[in-house]
Amino acid sequence: MPVELAYYGHACFGVKGGGATLLIDPFLTGNPLAAASADEVEADYILVSHAHGDHLGDTVSIAQRTGATVISNHEIATYAETQGVTAHGLHIGGGYDFPFGRVKLTIAHHGSSFPDGSYGGNPCGFLLSIEGKNIYHACDTGLFYDMKLIGEEGIELAILPIGDNYTMGPKDALRAVKLIEPRVVIPIHYDTFDLIKQDPAAFAKAVEAETQAKCVVLKPGESYSL
Ligand code: NI
Ligand code: MN
Repeated sequence: MPVELAYYGHACFGVKGGGATLLIDPFLTGNPLAAASADEVEADYILVSHAHGDHLGDTVSIAQRTGATVISNHEIATYAETQGVTAHGLHIGGGYDFPFGRVKLTIAHHGSSFPDGSYGGNPCGFLLSIEGKNIYHACDTGLFYDMKLIGEEGIELAILPIGDNYTMGPKDALRAVKLIEPRVVIPIHYDTFDLIKQDPAAFAKAVEAETQAKCVVLKPGESYSL
């Protein structure tokens, strides 16, 4: 079965596969480029990479409305539970076999405080194994050489930030592709704000010129079938 990905803008994806609908980093309210609204998206599980407002986003309200289980680091999972939401906490390097597939948390070099400044644990990326396919969503991170270890798992799709300033920019994201060697790359975390304006077509051209990967540039609202 294919895995269906819907890009809602910034770092947010809807992922359908393994009999479930996942939502990753649902920053919709307040996102000028969001392609969905928080009161209409569906989710059985919501994956949250870190507690910054542009990733935690509408997690609590969507989980309260849909009954979705929040999957995140222990600190964010514990916070979600205080909001009356079901949550499953993991930590970096740890994975768990959910009914839809496996989720493992990877390292991410970034911060993770909540919007009010309180501690949000360590930021992470996600290695998802769904329908026999490995998807690496790097979330917010700088380049790190251990991406090579993630690549050794055999990555079908790598979702990588290219915005620069807060995360990798296009040059380091290209180096990341060379370390991970995925079959497909989707760039994210650009153009939402002026500080992270980028040219995704130029990034795609560089990826396809210098690596074996196919680069798919999605506009918010567009989908990709893996
Ligand atoms: Ni962040
Ligand atoms: Mn961010």
